[in-house]
Amino acid sequence: MTEFSANTRLGTVVSTDSGPNVIEFSFVLEGGPREIIARRGEFVSVVTDVGTVIARVQNLVRTNRYYQHAEAVREYQSRGEPLRSIFPTDRWQYTVAMARVLGLWSEGHTIRPYFAVSPGAVVRKVDENILASFLKLDLEKGLHLGQLSYQNLEFAPSLDRLLSKHLAILAMSGAGKSYFVSVLLEELLSRPKEKGRLSVVVIDVHGEYSYLKDITPEALGLSKGQFEVEHIRGSHFQIPVQMLSAEAIGALVSDMSSIQIRDLRRAISELKNTLNEGYTLADVVEYVQNDEKISKNTREALSSWLINLDETGLFGKEAVPNIKTIVRPGKIALIDLSDFISLKKKQIIVSHLTNELLHFRRREMIPPFLLVLEEAHQFCPESRHELALPKSRIETIAREGRKFYALLCLISQRPVKLSTTVLSQCSNQAIFRCTNPYDLDHIGKSSEGIDRPSLDAITTLEIGEALFVGETVSVPTFVKIRGRKFEPTGVLKSLSDAMRKSDR
Ligand SMILES: Nc1ncnc2c1ncn2[C@@H]1O[C@H](COP(=O)(O)OP(=O)(O)O)[C@@H](O)[C@H]1O
Ligand SMILES: [Mg+2]
Repeated sequence: MTEFSANTRLGTVVSTDSGPNVIEFSFVLEGGPREIIARRGEFVSVVTDVGTVIARVQNLVRTNRYYQHAEAVREYQSRGEPLRSIFPTDRWQYTVAMARVLGLWSEGHTIRPYFAVSPGAVVRKVDENILASFLKLDLEKGLHLGQLSYQNLEFAPSLDRLLSKHLAILAMSGAGKSYFVSVLLEELLSRPKEKGRLSVVVIDVHGEYSYLKDITPEALGLSKGQFEVEHIRGSHFQIPVQMLSAEAIGALVSDMSSIQIRDLRRAISELKNTLNEGYTLADVVEYVQNDEKISKNTREALSSWLINLDETGLFGKEAVPNIKTIVRPGKIALIDLSDFISLKKKQIIVSHLTNELLHFRRREMIPPFLLVLEEAHQFCPESRHELALPKSRIETIAREGRKFYALLCLISQRPVKLSTTVLSQCSNQAIFRCTNPYDLDHIGKSSEGIDRPSLDAITTLEIGEALFVGETVSVPTFVKIRGRKFEPTGVLKSLSDAMRKSDR
């Protein structure tokens, strides 16, 4: 077992009414009265004969007998003499820390604690290597995402733990979600081929990741061609009409009846037989309008839906981009939707993309991929009253995708509005600062791993600080995300920035 030096001592376990018990213990801190040697949230340890008990400080209480009686304090106050000038009050101040046991680390494994630590036992800081193994971090090969919040330990989870199940990144806006995604993308880009490279498709709703296309492998110390970033503007996007079944078109229109879909299916299959090369939505409209076998009402309804779809400008003869070329190991494809104001257009693109990605991945025609979806609540909302064209497709990936590594990374500042089906499939969560009680409640319900104190702490997180829950780490862990290696250029950071720029 590792030798601890004297300065790792934090305090001594005390006997209280209810403890130490198997789950909790309290200890009196060492050090001077004003010194802070243990912080709330910090991991601590007690070495025993059968292994190291690892616990986390939940709360700290400072006591001082001299200040226990309000009347006495009041009395000295009114005399204008601070208590401190008469009595050695400082010597009587001490701090009791309450710690919650997380596990017993014994011979390289975590076992469930089955005994209480002894009163009088020494509480120490946790040895970094033990803590890293206990939390299941991979300091050598993991992703370098930041630092543990209360510890001098790098937060380097293994890629398998962080991403082989769906990941949800939740918080109020401005808390650091997108910043974290860029750090994650930097790490994924820096992975050399030997370690296995993931293919990433980012639905970039605000165009905030487009700066990544300017990063070269050389700038990350990699050889040329190690990775590729492709930036695809939403306005260039084209959905090939001949690939769309009547059902697929029906899914893009909110209320097509099954009879209308049947008529459309027949019209499309006849159109396919008459034309050799591709066709457009305008061709379908023309065909439907002249099709005497369809009732007049259906003809009119179908035409008007099809014309509406055609007016989005998103449909054409060829597929742009070609899904098979954008999904490649070591490649990030940025689908930049910042040109669009219309939610419907954004939804049509996401709906089509998710369908294609899942279809090709199922048949192993594309490699495992990670689909990063910003503003996820806009694409798979919980409410049935909202426009949600891609919802059922995203839910399908959420339910079935991880079996064949079609993986989701969903980002949302309104967790309460996000489909619960999808959220409950996200085994990994990174939760940044969040103060809305409804959102907090929803987060608490959707992830089993969070205890009440951790949930409360979410309201007090700093920008860029997150609680990781799920498979990534063995117990919920607070993390400070590292700074980016590359900063986007030309971004307006503040109102005064924006004012200065337009006042030139
Ligand atoms: N880990 C971090 N380190 C340093 N600054 C950060 C960090 N996370 C967020 N920030 C700052 O906070 C701002 C807002 O973060 P952002 O990720 O855009 O928030 P949102 O949660 O809305 O996506 C960033 O532009 C950046 O200045
Ligand atoms: Mg954001």
